[in-house]
Amino acid sequence: MATVIRTQSPGRINIIGEHTDYNDGFVLPAAIDKATVVQVKKNGTASDCNMIALNIGEVAYFDLNNFKPIENGWQNYMMGVVAELQKIGAKLEGFDCEFGGNVPIGSGMSSSASLECSFAYALNELFELGFDKWQLIKATQMAEHNFVGIKCGIMDQFASMMGKKDQVMLLDCRTLEFEYFPLDLGDYQLLLLNTNVSHSLGDSEYNNRREECENGVAIIQKTHPDVKNLRDVTLTMLSEFMGKMPAVTFKRCYHVVAENQRVQEATEAMKKHDHKLLGELVYQSHFSLQNDYEVSCPELDFLVQLTLDKDYILGSRMMGGGFGGCTISIIKKEMVGIFKTYAAKAYKERFDKDLTPYTVSIEDGAKVL
Ligand code: GLA
Repeated sequence: MATVIRTQSPGRINIIGEHTDYNDGFVLPAAIDKATVVQVKKNGTASDCNMIALNIGEVAYFDLNNFKPIENGWQNYMMGVVAELQKIGAKLEGFDCEFGGNVPIGSGMSSSASLECSFAYALNELFELGFDKWQLIKATQMAEHNFVGIKCGIMDQFASMMGKKDQVMLLDCRTLEFEYFPLDLGDYQLLLLNTNVSHSLGDSEYNNRREECENGVAIIQKTHPDVKNLRDVTLTMLSEFMGKMPAVTFKRCYHVVAENQRVQEATEAMKKHDHKLLGELVYQSHFSLQNDYEVSCPELDFLVQLTLDKDYILGSRMMGGGFGGCTISIIKKEMVGIFKTYAAKAYKERFDKDLTPYTVSIEDGAKVL
């Protein structure tokens, strides 16, 4: 009987550090108790690949020797992973694959990275490819660039692969050095509220933001040739450029430079158990994403606004790429139930949509089941 490999790779949260990863900055993610499970087995053919997406009951096929991205669809994640593994030397044969999971799609919890990582991990095991986790992280990130068309940073794939139970991770996206430390919020906990919206401009705006940051760097480099990207820019340095670059470019750069600083301050605050300061930084992150980076949306802003006069909530912000998905809030444990009900009612009244709350736990990254 053919060997069957089953793997699981989780979605992620991010405490703070949004749109910093592709600017070589810092992020503070953690893997969660929502994951994609992939099952693969060889089917005895040289190149026939059959796939079943269990959650939506769809099937697809491609030939290992002849495939390319389709206009839209989950098949791009799978074919992208295969293509990137082949690029780094993987010798594959035909396989049958089925997958399913519980990472809500479009929620900002990285359902796509969780699928890509689980699938790459499964193929690595099935065909004994011998790639290490970092090779798989980079291959899955490139799958997203080259097949899905989103020029994402490395945070999601990193978190999905490297997650560790009860630990958050401070990742330096330039050096790829990272540090685990415990998520200890004392009397507080994290609460995610899913807006259940995913505005379609998200993908194109994501790539635009990346380009806007690069444009900013090109201007800064004229007087600071050592600057490679926004990671190297300080707020003082950036202030020289006020009025000397387009106002929108300046705002984008300002968000990234300030957000990088916030990640480092937030890490210190967490280590010192200064939850109040952590909360303030989380709010600052949201307002910066809303006003300067302009990747929020009315639904997310509304949910953050709801928390502002609640003394039992220390901080709240949009999480992930933006234009929909979840907010993440730091809330007093005993008030979670009351606030969930209150927020769901207010959200329904304002947008006529349901709100989905999640209290996630922090779990291990990719593994064989
Ligand atoms: C998406 C991308 C990540 C990161 C976030 C924003 O989740 O996949 O690489 O850029 O958006 O922080």
